[in-house]
Amino acid sequence: MKHGVGIVGFGGMGSHHARGLIPKDRMDILGVYDINPKRMEVAQQEGYPTCESFEALLANEAIDIVLVATPNNFHRDLCIEALRRGKHVICEKPVTMHSGELTDIMDVAKQTGNIFTVHQNRRMDIDYLMVKKAIMEDKLLGDVFCIESRVQGARGVPDGWRQYPVAGGGMMLDWGVHLIDQIMMMLPEKVTSVYCKMYSIHYKEVDDCFKLFLTFESGKTALIEVSTSTFIELPRWHVSGDKGTLKIADWNCDGTVVRAKETEMEWEEEIVYTKAGPTKTMAPRPKHTIEEIKLEEPTTDYTQSYRALADAIEGNGAPLVDPAEAMRVMRVMEASFESSRKNEVIHLTV
Ligand SMILES: NC(=O)c1ccc[n+]([C@@H]2O[C@H](COP(=O)([O-])OP(=O)(O)OC[C@H]3O[C@@H](n4cnc5c(N)ncnc54)[C@H](O)[C@@H]3O)[C@@H](O)[C@H]2O)c1
Repeated sequence: MKHGVGIVGFGGMGSHHARGLIPKDRMDILGVYDINPKRMEVAQQEGYPTCESFEALLANEAIDIVLVATPNNFHRDLCIEALRRGKHVICEKPVTMHSGELTDIMDVAKQTGNIFTVHQNRRMDIDYLMVKKAIMEDKLLGDVFCIESRVQGARGVPDGWRQYPVAGGGMMLDWGVHLIDQIMMMLPEKVTSVYCKMYSIHYKEVDDCFKLFLTFESGKTALIEVSTSTFIELPRWHVSGDKGTLKIADWNCDGTVVRAKETEMEWEEEIVYTKAGPTKTMAPRPKHTIEEIKLEEPTTDYTQSYRALADAIEGNGAPLVDPAEAMRVMRVMEASFESSRKNEVIHLTV
């Protein structure tokens, strides 16, 4: 049985779903609605049927799945309306503007019995899968004590709604949501504190950069940084464990682990001279006591969110993203805004 998909919001991401994420062997796109007539024209040119209104899309009984890919401030109402009209819903990230809106949607999903899930596509990113495998499955770093995850650009915040708080703009809701979600998938423990510093360097109304420090129940930590004003980037990933360190430099996914061999670390009798003068502690470690491992790139499949949703509708398994997981991320983001506003550590258990 093939499912019928209706797309609300055919901008950058809605059109990307249509072109590459919705698996055509399991689903047909039966309706597209966008408030901008130009985007409706684009949809038509690409061969997708368009609907004159959201109502018309909902009235199409052959559509059983609705994708919500509008700016963030419209997610709540559109998701609730679609669920009430008997549709299963997949919503773009960030699922909502705040946790109260997400609670509203989850309540309606429960009342109606329809499936509600969130598109957290960065769970399928190759760099993330490499880190996850290295630290969780292969345990190459021993006991991990800090994960640093960064995305840094110098192009500013894109034109349009991302520059305005009323539409859910800013980098915490745009990128923070992905990076926090990835970290929470890798450290399956509760977050116990949050310290965040947000910056508005070029865009005064929203956070165009932030630095966020998370502490987990066991004492493990994560540092997440997003910047739109960085001209020399730090590594995309830098992970510290008691046996070694992992680095993935950038989007090219060039990943390396350097770790201690069984051989004991030997200290020189003499002080070591570097260009910055003498140091023993911070001198390079003797080569024969370390090994370097190149990380392999796994394959990935970005259609998984839809495949899992189709399976769940057919009674086989659960959607890829449980809204409760999105709620945890939302709570961490809310604590981050509070932390930055008050310049305080926020203690929570989430
Ligand atoms: N998962 C990801 O990696 C990723 C990447 C980019 C964007 N997104 C998310 O996708 C959503 C859309 O972002 P985008 O980059 O495509 O933005 P966009 O501005 O390119 O597209 C949004 C589209 O929604 C339309 N629209 C606005 N209000 C509407 C309404 N009430 N009803 C119908 N259509 C409406 C606009 O006309 C526009 O065409 C956001 O929630 C964003 O966070 C996710």
